[in-house]
Amino acid sequence: MFQFTILEIILYLVLILVLLILKPLFQMLIMKIKYGKKMHLMYFPLLGRIIEFSRGIKKHNDLLHFEKMIPQQHPEIEIVVSNTFLGLTHVFFKTEHIKFILQNQDLYKKTSKVLFGEKMLYKGLAFQDGEDWRLARNVLSKSFEFEQLRARIPLIKRLCEEKFSKVPEGEPIDIINISGNIVGEVITQSFFSQSFKDLNGKTFLSELVDVMVGIISQYREAPIRSMSRTFIFGTKDYPNWTISKVEQKLLARLQKIKDILSDSIKERQSMENKPADFLTAYINTIQQNPKLTEEHAIQQYIMLIFAGIDTTSNLFGACCYALSIHPEWQRKLREEIQKQYGAYERLNSDNINVSNQITNFINECMRMYTPVPYFIEREVKQDHKVGDYFLKKNSEVSLCLFPNNYDPKNFTDPFTFNPDRWNQQGIDPFVFLPFSIGKRNCIGQHMALMEIKCLLVYLLMNFEVNLVGEKQVWTFKFVYTIQNEKFIQLKRIGK
Ligand code: HEM
Repeated sequence: MFQFTILEIILYLVLILVLLILKPLFQMLIMKIKYGKKMHLMYFPLLGRIIEFSRGIKKHNDLLHFEKMIPQQHPEIEIVVSNTFLGLTHVFFKTEHIKFILQNQDLYKKTSKVLFGEKMLYKGLAFQDGEDWRLARNVLSKSFEFEQLRARIPLIKRLCEEKFSKVPEGEPIDIINISGNIVGEVITQSFFSQSFKDLNGKTFLSELVDVMVGIISQYREAPIRSMSRTFIFGTKDYPNWTISKVEQKLLARLQKIKDILSDSIKERQSMENKPADFLTAYINTIQQNPKLTEEHAIQQYIMLIFAGIDTTSNLFGACCYALSIHPEWQRKLREEIQKQYGAYERLNSDNINVSNQITNFINECMRMYTPVPYFIEREVKQDHKVGDYFLKKNSEVSLCLFPNNYDPKNFTDPFTFNPDRWNQQGIDPFVFLPFSIGKRNCIGQHMALMEIKCLLVYLLMNFEVNLVGEKQVWTFKFVYTIQNEKFIQLKRIGK
């Protein structure tokens, strides 16, 4: 069909070499000359940060070790610039820069590089922009306030009992998966007031998560095809011939899931007495606002599953890790839980937030192991400066939380796990940002903390939490997490 001469092929290869390998190198060198020591470059052809990541894992069992060491080992650095196949990313972590970016969110829009994002996530809150975002945030905000969410506590408690009663004792278990099932069920019930039937031999939720992860992971599984396609065709509709068989199968499974959700929405629209849940809030707004469609409601649910499950379950995983390597804290928290609640039945929406010690423990886990250390990348909408740094339209910006979380100026002795530090410090809200701050902060933070507290109370009342093996490696799979999935084992108390 296509016929190229050898000369043409050579010219194309040279073009690719220049655009993808030499252009970012050249741009980065210019920046280095301009900003000097304050800017750290991570250049590696096509995949900038990869060398630093693998060095962190090899030497320190931690992919993000470099970020944590910036304040102590490289205090002169203010910004890290790295390259990907698709351009340069500027990572900011100084408080004044973070503050500027979060207070001027209208200068940026969230990245549109998620594969097939149009079909599953871009109509969801975290990726929406402008008027669409304002409308959706308005619809959902009320449903995510503590006063509305408190009614979910009995459901969360029941799910904790149900899922943990089946856990095999003394065997390595995937605690993140177990807690993820609980969180996913709470989101689904809060949105639809129902569960969905198993699909393809799995629970509906596992199928949805597998499909989403499968699609997004195509960047990793088939990097050359995925990235060159995005490079050539942008991020919206790709021509059919560029979609692989694997992707076609994943998209067919996604469509099946969306059809089931669509049926449920149609059924709800025709109901007279609608339950008070997220879907009803959405449908009421759809009726008044023709810009909102059924597709928006479907993608909003997929978005909440995407943003809510891995984050919360990995924070719980981090809590379990901390409990297992700090047995003195495991004992203290168990005593505190016994003192505050006595029995699991007594935990309720009036007393769930009474314990400062539990809150301090969770804060310390988020400081040291936050599941979201990097924010979603933003595209710059117009030329502007952040501090001294000039950002060109269409360049990319991200924020990294670990340098601030491990800066001794903010947290004394930062590599020591010390929940008591939270008794004293009045910390700048732009320094400690596990849920971000400002208008694009995490809408699900009350839900997440409520779930973590229920999970911790149930776990510590019933089990001893132990680490499997001596060392674990911290890595990044959509969120900051432990590489080995089965890193925890439980022993029932009193046996
Ligand atoms: C420990 C758990 C969680 C952490 C650490 C976390 C963290 C964050 C962070 C840092 C952001 C801002 C991201 C950015 O600007 O790039 C964010 C946004 C968001 N989160 Fe969470 N999150 C958690 C749980 C949840 C839950 C349970 C839900 C929903 C069920 C949720 C839904 C969202 C949504 C929809 C946004 C986008 C909000 C907007 O742009 O208006 N998150 N989250």
